[in-house]
Amino acid sequence: MSGSPAYIGRIIVTGPHMPKITYIESNGTSHETQGEVGSTVMETAVMNGVPGIVAECGGACTCATCHVYVDGEWTEAVGGPSMMEEDMLDFAFAVRPTSRLSCQIKIKPEHDGLVVHVPERQG
Ligand code: FES
Repeated sequence: MSGSPAYIGRIIVTGPHMPKITYIESNGTSHETQGEVGSTVMETAVMNGVPGIVAECGGACTCATCHVYVDGEWTEAVGGPSMMEEDMLDFAFAVRPTSRLSCQIKIKPEHDGLVVHVPERQG
C-alpha cells in the first residue's frame, strides 16, 4: 500500500479553446465533454460516445439524426438554424423552437458551458 489515494476518473480541462459542452439525455443522464473550438457539437458528441447522437451523414446536414435541443439559456449564444438546416429539421423527431442539428453548431470560445438536450429518439 503506497499511502497515496487512488484516483479513478478523468480531469476535464475547459477554457476558451476547449469549451465545456454538456449533453443531457432524455432520461436525465448528463455527459460533460470538452469541445474543440472549430469542431462541431455533433463531432464532440460522437468522439465522446454520447448516446442518441447518431449522425448518419457525418455532418453533411442531410440526415437530421444529430438533432438536439439547445438549452434555453444558450439559444441566443448559439443562434438559429440556416435555411438548409431548417429544411432538414423537418425530418427530425419532435422538433421544438430550440431544435438544432448539432453538426451545424460550430463550437466557439463563448460556448464554454453550453448545454444541449438529446431527444428521446432521432427521426
Ligand atoms: Fe447528418 Fe447532422 S450529422 S444532419
